[in-house]
Amino acid sequence: MKKKITSVKEISGCITVPGDKSISHRSIMLGALAEGRTEISGFLESADCLSTIRCIRAMGVQVEKNGDLYIVHGKGIGGFKEPADILDCGNSGTTIRLLSGLVAGLGFHAVLTGDHSLRTRPMTRIKNPLMEMGAKFDGRENGKFAPISLRGGFLHGIDYRMQIASAQVKSAILLAGLNASGETSVFELLSSRDHTERMLASFGADVEVQKAADGTTIKLRPSALKAVNVEVPGDISSAAFFLTAAAAMPGAELTVKNVGLNPARTGILDVLDRMGANVEILNASLNAGEIVGDVKIIGNHLKAIQIYDYEIPALIDEVPIIAVAAAVAEGETVITGASELKVKESDRLAVMASELAKVGVDVEELPDGLIIRGGRPIKGGKVNSFSDHRIAMAMAVCGLFSKEGIEIEGSDAVAISFPDFFEKLDSVCGR
Ligand code: S3P
Repeated sequence: MKKKITSVKEISGCITVPGDKSISHRSIMLGALAEGRTEISGFLESADCLSTIRCIRAMGVQVEKNGDLYIVHGKGIGGFKEPADILDCGNSGTTIRLLSGLVAGLGFHAVLTGDHSLRTRPMTRIKNPLMEMGAKFDGRENGKFAPISLRGGFLHGIDYRMQIASAQVKSAILLAGLNASGETSVFELLSSRDHTERMLASFGADVEVQKAADGTTIKLRPSALKAVNVEVPGDISSAAFFLTAAAAMPGAELTVKNVGLNPARTGILDVLDRMGANVEILNASLNAGEIVGDVKIIGNHLKAIQIYDYEIPALIDEVPIIAVAAAVAEGETVITGASELKVKESDRLAVMASELAKVGVDVEELPDGLIIRGGRPIKGGKVNSFSDHRIAMAMAVCGLFSKEGIEIEGSDAVAISFPDFFEKLDSVCGR
């Protein structure tokens, strides 16, 4: 599908965005592992999270929808049965990697695969720790790529030092550790998002987080989980497209209400603030270990900044939209330490470099980042999303600042995380 986004003069409003993708996936998986009924409000009904529900149901766990709630009828690990067919994780890296950890802790065989993009994404990062814990793991090219095949059960805990900052890998190890013998510990130099640890604690797991000057260690002892209700806040990674659009438009005023503000996710707010927008947090409160609040942005003439390696984990999914902010901002923005972007739903460094260049932005791709020389008029033109939801949304926001508009081929990719993105975008633009 194609969609053309043309320029606007004003952005304003007070909106909500769909539920957090990371928390939605985890609410289904932890609910399925727990004993009892987990009621989930604010669940993100997008293609990725529906892939998780489909796979969990295929392993015998009942998940039903009742009005606005999703209800998981967990029976502990005894509620899972060997899937009769391949588990299709669609486009979702979180589904395949977290489910691999979950399945590794159970005593059966499962094959997991996904769409073309997912089948090109690295799986060795979960294969190594899960095999070290005692799981049998295989896949295409010696376990590098999906389809992957797993046979779990009888795992033992490990001490694992993360090679990359990845919440998906960390979570896979922790989910496997729930049903392993002995303690599992994971050390990370740079903290990745910690929703799994926070949610495991609220589901009653024996989990401990130790922060030190050189990094963070998460220790988990085998635990039976007890169902708790989950209120999923709005996804800051979805809000980011609207917040950035408003930030880059002088005088724009926009509030996104009820957004998750976990410090491991709010790097985008620091970036917009440093670029010169006015960022304000209102009505912050704590809900089941997660900070939630409203974010109000007043737009400005943005200026270029340097984004450093250590900042990347807290804004990993926001690099495409930050690149758009940088294209509008005056001066040279340099982003480094972002080589993980090469193995997301698309190679986001290459794609942002090629698609921004197509619409007239001066951009250079680095092995681990981007240099964007912003502040020149953005002409517009035709771009491709490469079936990547965040590229489609980033280029749509770019269209708002272009002279001739931007036509996005593959705009329907937004359904992966934000099905009504274009309607919401129209609403804040007064269209
Ligand atoms: C996610 C972790 C991140 C992120 C992805 C969701 C999660 O991936 O990019 O969109 O829910 O754990 P990595 O852990 O691979 O960096």
